Amino acid sequence: MSRRPVNPARRLADGGSIPFVGSAHSKSRSSPLLSVILLAVGAVLLIGYLYSGSGKTTIEKEALSKVEGVVSCTLEVQRALPVLKKAYGDSMLKVLHVGPETCSVVSKLLKEEDTEAWGVEPYDLDDADANCRSLVQKGIVRVADIKFPLPYRAKSFSLVIVSDAVDYLSPKYLNRTLPELARVSVDGVVIFAGYPGQHRAKVSELSKFGRPAKLRSSTWWIRYFLQNSLEENEVAAKKFDQASVKRSYKPACQVFHLKSYH
Ligand SMILES: *[C@@H]1O[C@H](CO)[C@@H](O)[C@H](O)[C@H]1NC(C)=O
Repeated sequence: MSRRPVNPARRLADGGSIPFVGSAHSKSRSSPLLSVILLAVGAVLLIGYLYSGSGKTTIEKEALSKVEGVVSCTLEVQRALPVLKKAYGDSMLKVLHVGPETCSVVSKLLKEEDTEAWGVEPYDLDDADANCRSLVQKGIVRVADIKFPLPYRAKSFSLVIVSDAVDYLSPKYLNRTLPELARVSVDGVVIFAGYPGQHRAKVSELSKFGRPAKLRSSTWWIRYFLQNSLEENEVAAKKFDQASVKRSYKPACQVFHLKSYH
């Protein structure tokens, strides 16, 4: 998304170079006056463009990053909750969410009737609001590095939902973390992962996540799951697709449904 301005700039630079080409070739029929005017217009446009690009205020930049945040898969989980409830039914009664901004997902789940929810926040919670701090104090949300074993007993949750978390793990750590997610769940693991080509790792976020997101294709993920004997939860996947169609819900992230270990 941040690369989009490059093209108009290039086109502008090309346009601006026409007068130079004209003056370099003495055979050119265009009048010197026209060349000067074109050059002037080109320069004004170029300066205007550069100025508008560099003159972006901090507030504008923050607004921009919030807009980009809208495509986050954690927000996508919240959008998908009604569909997940349809697909998973009673398995949505005891849920663990793993991913950044987990407080938002956990709070939303806790508002549902008969739903127990917990969260693992894989990154620092520097800017947590009062509600989130309270969830952490009660032990409902834990800050934990998901490269290490999760602080829960086997089969503690009916369903584990993961967003924007496995994208940041190398295969070496995925080999440890995915079995952990399957271990602490009974009825399955739902993974929301970014699509390749989505620009989500902003420079400001690199320090937070440690490394840029590696957005992998569905082919990559499915091959990875097969290699690691993680089976697709076909029944849940089918129900999820059906419920999505019914509600005209189109996920902005890749959604994978895996079985837990038995
Ligand atoms: C991950 O586990 C699979 C299956 O056991 C293995 O083939 C693969 O080499 C492992 N990858 C890494 C990076 O350890």
